[in-house]
Amino acid sequence: MQDKRIGFFDKLAKNWDSNQDEVSLKRVIDETNIKKGSAVCDVGTGTGVLLPYIVEKVEETGKVIAIDYSSEMIKKAKEKWGKLAVEFVVADIHNTGFPDSCFDYVICNACFPHFEKKKIALKEIHRILKKGGTIVISHPRGREFVNKLHREACECIKRDRVFEADILAKLLKQQNFTPLKTIDEPNFYFVSAVKS
Ligand SMILES: C[S@@+](CC[C@H](N)C(=O)[O-])C[C@H]1O[C@@H](n2cnc3c(N)ncnc32)[C@H](O)[C@@H]1O
Repeated sequence: MQDKRIGFFDKLAKNWDSNQDEVSLKRVIDETNIKKGSAVCDVGTGTGVLLPYIVEKVEETGKVIAIDYSSEMIKKAKEKWGKLAVEFVVADIHNTGFPDSCFDYVICNACFPHFEKKKIALKEIHRILKKGGTIVISHPRGREFVNKLHREACECIKRDRVFEADILAKLLKQQNFTPLKTIDEPNFYFVSAVKS
């Protein structure tokens, strides 16, 4: 199943950028409130649509790592943003290989529903976050939009759902995060929580 998903995203890489809403993408980063000098991991970066906003926030003293398990997405992201101070890594969020406690923020924009084993992915994110670090799970077009899109998509992602925000907050608590911010508007979804 994982191979089918990777193949699906590899094929999407070429035309992924055609349908982005810049205002909502910027809002994800504004709501995250990234501090200058932070270490940030952009999980499932795709073609890196969030990267310029993140780089702007962390400034020269920060560190940005963009990961994706689709090598085609990483290739496209590198082509677009190779000049930015970003490290690109082909990696699966279920097992990244990063050291313990190395990030201040782990951002999962428009990708959490695709993680096959949510608890394992959250455990890994908890491990790589510093104490007091923040996880963000966001969908700039909102929950209903994404769920409809997935329902009508190919078999391999058909059942991937954005949870109602309070259900996600409960799952985060079970995984030793303290919920911080919850926004579940018709066209914008943002949940953040802190590693306690
Ligand atoms: C819907 S796209 C979103 C891309 C980007 N975050 C954006 O907002 O445009 C989901 C991305 O997550 C990646 N992805 C899904 N599951 C993943 C996993 N387990 N580990 C790493 N990347 C994953 C996919 O390859 C794909 O590039």
